Amino acid sequence: MCGIVGYIGNENGVSKVLEGLSRLEYRGYDSAGISYKENSDLKVVKKEGKLTNLESLVSEIKANAVVGHTRWATHGEVNDINAHPHGNDLFSVVHNGIIENAFELKKELKEQGEVFHSQTDSEVFLVLLTKNFKAEKNIKSAVLKTFSQVTGNSSFVILPRDEDNIYAIKRSAPLVCGKNDSGDQLFASSDPYALIGFVENIFFPGEEILCFLSKENKRVEFFDIEGNPSENYQSDKSRKDLKVETKEGFDHFMLKEIYEQPKLINNIAKIYETEYQELKNIKLEDIETINIIGCGTAWHAGLCMRNMFETELKKKVNVELASEFRYRKPYLTNKDMGLFISQSGETADTIACTELCKELGLKLGSILNVKDSTLNRLCDENMMIHAGQEIGVASTKAFTMQVIVGHFLMRLFQGKNPAKEFEKELEVLKNRVQGILDAPELIKKIANSIHSYKGFIFTGRNKYFPIALEGALKLKEIAYVHAEGYAAGELKHGPIALIDEEMVSICLVGPELYEKTLSNIEEIKARKGKILIVGPEEHDNLEELADWFIPLNFEGFEYFSPIYVNVVMQLLSYYIAREKGTDIDKPRNLAKSVTVE
Ligand code: F6R
Repeated sequence: MCGIVGYIGNENGVSKVLEGLSRLEYRGYDSAGISYKENSDLKVVKKEGKLTNLESLVSEIKANAVVGHTRWATHGEVNDINAHPHGNDLFSVVHNGIIENAFELKKELKEQGEVFHSQTDSEVFLVLLTKNFKAEKNIKSAVLKTFSQVTGNSSFVILPRDEDNIYAIKRSAPLVCGKNDSGDQLFASSDPYALIGFVENIFFPGEEILCFLSKENKRVEFFDIEGNPSENYQSDKSRKDLKVETKEGFDHFMLKEIYEQPKLINNIAKIYETEYQELKNIKLEDIETINIIGCGTAWHAGLCMRNMFETELKKKVNVELASEFRYRKPYLTNKDMGLFISQSGETADTIACTELCKELGLKLGSILNVKDSTLNRLCDENMMIHAGQEIGVASTKAFTMQVIVGHFLMRLFQGKNPAKEFEKELEVLKNRVQGILDAPELIKKIANSIHSYKGFIFTGRNKYFPIALEGALKLKEIAYVHAEGYAAGELKHGPIALIDEEMVSICLVGPELYEKTLSNIEEIKARKGKILIVGPEEHDNLEELADWFIPLNFEGFEYFSPIYVNVVMQLLSYYIAREKGTDIDKPRNLAKSVTVE
């Protein structure tokens, strides 16, 4: 979603801000802009479309104080005017999030004679800030006052005309600040990834803490909402060794990330063996119900955990979509656990559910990739998936690692050492996944044959049902084709009406419930549907049933065969998308980290 980078220092900030914004491109955006100080004036340049459109307009500009933004439209269509920064002669503002009371505030401000140029909620902050400043004559107190007047989860970065400082503040939205060792380069950003290589020190401000990037004092200072100095922030020096990700010879980040999976699978047990051998803050005997909560792919990973949690832990398990859970007034008690799954740790709906569960006194756990995320700070117990930075908008390696770490959590609940328990099966998984990746030709060939069909139905039973959902999600995300996932047994309750010669059914068949799944496929065949079966290489008649067949070796799996099947789904979507010529790493309309509702 929106990306923010602000700079104040003694070098050219324009190039640094553009570089930072380019690193955040993967998060998804539709326009970009910067504001900078020239002599004593604030200038704003912004442009709809890719960052390169903006770069061509500002590449010659040099300035020591700059704020930049990539916008993912929420309020108001995609155009130059709605792009950020929003500025006037006194302030430039960039914003990430949603101002929930923007409509009422805008109405009041208009009645008072204020003029608006854009359709955005963000401009309300600018207009209100300017009004407050004119009354208070002090920038810091005007920023704090304005921030306390807007509701919703947001981060704001403000460049004032009259000071050589930058102000930044957030509420349940991502915001970090950075400083190099000498303090002559100060940054604010929505993501520490934008600051790699620029600074040695990263600061994570607490909620509603004002960050004051002071050029004169060469440091970032922190204030609470009353304006008093605050210690409510965390600092981290370890980020300075991080690297900016490259495609390393692959055509897309997504493909690179798919191919990283064997290495990640190989590493995870070792990491857990040295770093994490027991649950420190949550005990199974204190829990009655486990609520697993996430969005999209993370929700699918949660569905993969449900059966085994119920069977092995003998607990009631709900798997919930965060956007639904937060509003349906679920019955919860302090004997329940909220288990939140999120790659980014910043997904707005997931965070809102975490906050809800916290208020109600639930035990809170997470399965998560980004260490310094909001989710990490909210939960009692955090299980890291160690997938590394995921740049491709469509999640691949994170899903695999979420499912594995979910299994680790199950064993930790049982007081067992997950690294030892799963050592052998992880070895099998790693080798089988490597086998698929080493010989993608069949998948490529099938992608070539099926890419122009009208639609795709993914079916699976039991532990392959979540993979049917995930396979369909991946395909629609990156290939822009209609694809739905169904439980195979549900077909005849409605979706079978869609079957004809133009519809491809991608049927996931494991050794479990084999005969039953086959009968579902027979029903598709009887209706002249096209059939791709992904199923066991040892079989009786799958090839006769199928138009296309991808054989897999299911020997040696107890738990992880769904992950193995899913790698086939990842490659299939990837190669279909290639045939379609879509923007695979940054599919249209999507954002990597969905930080607004
Ligand atoms: C799909 C995808 C999304 C995310 C979802 C949750 O490929 O990436 O469905 O899984 O937006 O994101 P996180 O895991 O960051 O909470």
